[in-house]
Amino acid sequence: MVIKIVHLSDIHITSPYFIPEMYDRVVREVNDLKPDIVIITGDLTNDGRLNEYEDADRYIKRIKCENMVILPGNHDTRNAGYLLFEEYFGERIKTLRYKNITVVGVDSSEPDIDDGHIGRDKYPYIINSFNQNKDDFKIFALHHHVIPVPLCGRERTVPTDAGDLLDVLDRLKINLILCGHRHVPWLWNLNDMVILNAGTPCTTRTKGKIGQSYNLIEIDDSLKIYRISLNGEKYIVFDRKIYKG
Ligand SMILES: [Fe+2]
Ligand SMILES: [Fe+2]
Repeated sequence: MVIKIVHLSDIHITSPYFIPEMYDRVVREVNDLKPDIVIITGDLTNDGRLNEYEDADRYIKRIKCENMVILPGNHDTRNAGYLLFEEYFGERIKTLRYKNITVVGVDSSEPDIDDGHIGRDKYPYIINSFNQNKDDFKIFALHHHVIPVPLCGRERTVPTDAGDLLDVLDRLKINLILCGHRHVPWLWNLNDMVILNAGTPCTTRTKGKIGQSYNLIEIDDSLKIYRISLNGEKYIVFDRKIYKG
């Protein structure tokens, strides 16, 4: 049976760049897809303020999925927004197990700093969570991109400990890393870890002619990744059999 995962990021609800009609369309499409899991890799808001969290909560509740993994981004952590995040969306480090899939999501933001940071103190949690079910398909999610992506100029905001983090994830044989932050949809394949960046699906904060998009992931005995563009096009960007061990 195919497991469907929708990966959204950088929705920046109620920011000046937010396009409500596009968000409405994303919600309609996602609900039609009936995904097993929805993962949102941060930047739900623009400044982490209370009114933005109230709006984000209302908007995100319209997505119908029982298994949601929602993480904060650098914008959500501003102005003590990390406290509001916990109130509205729960822990900032979390694990979801659904069938034979383990998703570990970690907050990579620091208050009022745009750089990413995971930190050595969180590695034991990550390692222990994935080691509970070593044969699972393993997904690690965070807001910041773990390696640079094109069209972003000089790189500044990858997690300060990206090298050590990637080493930890590589040793754990993580299948898929999900991230956002740069608003550039992209895919790298590093040591058989697929690193998938999501674009923004519903804001004008795009780069060049990239446009708005989100990701659909299908997992059975193969991993298929689609980029769903808000101009109505759907591209397959990855399709490969999954090998264990
Ligand atoms: Fe963003
Ligand atoms: Fe961001």
